[in-house]
Amino acid sequence: MAITITIANEKGGVGKTTTAVNLAAGLALRLENEDGPAGRVLVVDMDPQGHALLAIAFDKHKDVFPVSLSALLTETPPPSIQRMIQHSDHHANLYYIPSDHTGMIRAARELPSLMANETRLQKALAQVQNQFAYIVIDTPPNTGDLLVNSLVAADLVVIPVETSYLGVSGLIELQRTIEQIKTHFRPELKIFGYLPTLCDEQRAEAQEILTELQQRYKTLMLPPIHKATDLAYAHSAHMDVFTYKPPRVHSTESIASSSRATQEYSGLVEAVLHETRKRNS
Ligand SMILES: Nc1ncnc2c1ncn2[C@@H]1O[C@H](COP(=O)(O)OP(=O)(O)OP(=O)(O)O)[C@@H](O)[C@H]1O
Ligand SMILES: [Mg+2]
Repeated sequence: MAITITIANEKGGVGKTTTAVNLAAGLALRLENEDGPAGRVLVVDMDPQGHALLAIAFDKHKDVFPVSLSALLTETPPPSIQRMIQHSDHHANLYYIPSDHTGMIRAARELPSLMANETRLQKALAQVQNQFAYIVIDTPPNTGDLLVNSLVAADLVVIPVETSYLGVSGLIELQRTIEQIKTHFRPELKIFGYLPTLCDEQRAEAQEILTELQQRYKTLMLPPIHKATDLAYAHSAHMDVFTYKPPRVHSTESIASSSRATQEYSGLVEAVLHETRKRNS
């Protein structure tokens, strides 16, 4: 059974997509020697902007697929998810579900009037649970059925928090949404952690915000991801940072290179692997 990790924060530009892409790629690299499903990772990009897919499958993102994610969410009966799954560009064991901007905008508009509008993604993914070790879901920067579907389908939520401005009210709202989803749909849903992102050591407010987050979320705080040009460049080059800055010697034990960004995101990857081992033992 796959562990599904949703990256969420309704605030825009906080590093959700960067985290989804690099977590998924990092997990794929760490698991590349595992056989079968234990080595496979799937990315689902629930944001109509489709930025995660740019980094996962740039060469193919403009291909028109006859059916894509929006059909899974809106059609009755839904098409086969099995036949939708595609290979990523940079890792042989990383996969994605194709998506298109217009279709996803339409899906967001139609979902509220459809039946079972909160659980459609969960139902679709249930059919491929036994084919992947991890499913990573990126989400749009707003509330609505696309976010709700992404949370209902998840085991763990990672919440990236930007460290230049603390938007506490948005975080409280997201917590409320997660509580409601736990109550009504998915009691097992768990916040894996708050991930400080875009952390700039030169600025005093970054430290203040980190301290405040620490007091607020205590053991749920993950080690911060610093502002790094490698992450921005990798993003413009349509790559994950591990592909952009690979280590000199290839090893599945250590996926980090001399680039700090790879070290910090590989820390998140290890934390997720550790949590999984804990669950399975
Ligand atoms: N740690 C970082 N260092 C430098 N640049 C970063 C870092 N994290 C993200 N970025 C850059 O900041 C911008 C916003 O990041 P990203 O797209 O991951 O945020 P997002 O939360 O997904 O945004 P949206 O809400 O629009 O989907 C991107 O250009 C990305 O390359
Ligand atoms: Mg994004």
